Amino acid sequence: MDVLNGFSLVGKTVLVTGASSGIGAHLARVASQAGARVVLGARRVERLQQLAQEIRQAGGDALAVALDVTDRDSVEAAFDEAEAVFGVVDVVLNNAGIGNGQSVLDISEADWRAMLSTNLDGVWRVAQCAAQRLSKAKRPGSIINIASILGLRVGVGLSHYCAAKAGVVQLSKSLAMELARYQIRVNAIAPGYFKTEMNDAYFDSEKGLEYIRDMVPMRRLGNLQELEGPFLLLASEAGAFMTGAVLAVDGGHLVGSL
Ligand code: NAI
Repeated sequence: MDVLNGFSLVGKTVLVTGASSGIGAHLARVASQAGARVVLGARRVERLQQLAQEIRQAGGDALAVALDVTDRDSVEAAFDEAEAVFGVVDVVLNNAGIGNGQSVLDISEADWRAMLSTNLDGVWRVAQCAAQRLSKAKRPGSIINIASILGLRVGVGLSHYCAAKAGVVQLSKSLAMELARYQIRVNAIAPGYFKTEMNDAYFDSEKGLEYIRDMVPMRRLGNLQELEGPFLLLASEAGAFMTGAVLAVDGGHLVGSL
């Protein structure tokens, strides 16, 4: 038997939140290449339609669904639509997120709420919805939450983001414990720095690149391809005994010298 078969997603339905750009769009393509039917969820539906078309042209199955993770009705409707076309969602990549640096002295109530509402409440809402449907259907599943190294350590001007991501780390572990009896695995990936729409202005600047050279032991940004292995491991049977894990993918950033 081919040792790589364990990483296959053939026969699985994978829902990706925040699939309209960056990490989500990239890993949605990867899920399709690994054989999954892919449900692309985000608010910018035209972008999702383009990606769905690209995946179909490459021979895959993809569905674009409007999804706002801050809105319960929208989340339920996206899962309903996915189920109607592909059946119960087996794997969720809980990836949607926002990130903007702000001093703690300037964060308004609305800024705080927006951050927590998307980056923590949204992850909980989507995970709960997936778990309710999987347990009802008596099917095993895998939920992968995109946390951040900023959920494990802190950065300047990001107190709301760090608090939300730390919440994602703890939420992932708690859900892993509660859902293990239903054969639903819950793990988190904690990326270091990858250039996406969230941070490209900073990493196009000399200041941003200098930060990376100074702070990351591997002295470079990550490439989106470097998230593929961790994602496929957690999504597939290759990771069948993994739950409650937090995988850092950060070029050694978390173990950088103090
Ligand atoms: P991105 O900005 O390209 O992608 C974020 C996606 O989430 C976008 O498609 C956006 O439309 C979507 N989104 C935002 N709010 C939403 C909502 N309410 N409902 C549905 N979709 C929504 O940025 P990136 O980097 O791809 O971010 C993906 C995840 O990775 C985020 O959770 C982010 O916090 C996390 N992350 C990113 C790192 C990086 O260096 N790029 C580092 C660590 C974590």
